[in-house]
Amino acid sequence: MNSTILGTGSYVPNRVLTNADLESMVETSDAWIAERTGIRERRLVESGQACSDLALEAAQRALTTANVNASDLDLILLATCTGDNPLPSTACLLQNRLGATRAAACDISAACCGFVYALSIADAYVKTGMRYVLVIGSEVMSAITDWTDRNTCVLFGDGAGAVVLGPGSHDAGILSTHLHANGRLSDMIQVPGGGSKAPGSKEILDNKQCFIKMKGNETFKIAVKSMEEAAHEAVTANGVTMSEIDVFIPHQANMRILKAVSQRLGLPQEKLMINLDKFGNTSAASIPLALDEAVISQRIKTGDLVLLAAFGAGLTWASALVRW
Ligand SMILES: CC(C)(COP(=O)(O)OP(=O)(O)OC[C@H]1O[C@@H](n2cnc3c(N)ncnc32)[C@H](O)[C@@H]1OP(=O)(O)O)[C@@H](O)C(=O)NCCC(=O)NCCS
Repeated sequence: MNSTILGTGSYVPNRVLTNADLESMVETSDAWIAERTGIRERRLVESGQACSDLALEAAQRALTTANVNASDLDLILLATCTGDNPLPSTACLLQNRLGATRAAACDISAACCGFVYALSIADAYVKTGMRYVLVIGSEVMSAITDWTDRNTCVLFGDGAGAVVLGPGSHDAGILSTHLHANGRLSDMIQVPGGGSKAPGSKEILDNKQCFIKMKGNETFKIAVKSMEEAAHEAVTANGVTMSEIDVFIPHQANMRILKAVSQRLGLPQEKLMINLDKFGNTSAASIPLALDEAVISQRIKTGDLVLLAAFGAGLTWASALVRW
């Protein structure tokens, strides 16, 4: 028996930061950002709003569409690299706010791949007898963004997406997941300070070590190759062909990455789900945010074959194939 996605939900904060707004913050232009990334605007939290606040909204919506009570959840897996605090896990804060008193809860740290990693773990538990697992990707990327660095600040946004996973049938649901990592390339995308190696201090803050540093150009090339590889792995493992994929939902990093991957896979543009023009790169939230939009807009229909592919810091890359 497969596990199946019983419901989806998402949430983005109200505050919009457009490319035009960024023009007054760093030396950039709407034209450069739109052409090089495909992003036109992104959402940012209001002061005081944290990862758990976004996660709560997305989770409640997913529970409603799944018709599952929070009190029936067995496990909450929250993928994030921008949790409310280092301790406790944001998943535990969420467990309390949802009233999911029976559920075990922990955070999953796999950067932009976090949601697919969490989905894979949830799938394994449901397949082996657990009933309801809430899987969330929630990020406040604005908290780890250096708003004076034009190389990175144009890319990221805040948001959350969630799914409720439960028992399904033999021929529908999560058909497979594949996870990968290569720690040799950990310096490609990193936040060097603020952890136990270089704890938060005035010096760390002054040197902007608590913000994302990225080798954008190298990352770009590896992202295309890795997501292509993970996508092929998913279809091969299930004995289907790429032409059978109905909807492709890649991690929303950069429009040029998404188009290059789908082109290499031979997937036409109409099968590619894109919403990064509105939200930017929301890291672990990006796939569930796009998935929920695809469900709400009825781009995904019952029986569709949905391919998820992610790539992120670590480096990590992953895929999942879902029969809707
Ligand atoms: C970051 C990214 C958009 C940069 O695009 P690029 O085509 O690789 O651009 P480059 O880094 O080669 O820089 C080209 C020039 O644009 C400049 N530039 C960088 N950011 C700019 C900005 N926001 N506005 C204007 N110019 C900018 C650079 O300084 C460079 O100028 P130079 O040639 O005078 O040195 C792109 O590399 C990217 O998206 N990489 C993947 C990042 C990603 O998705 N990471 C997360 C993965 S989960």
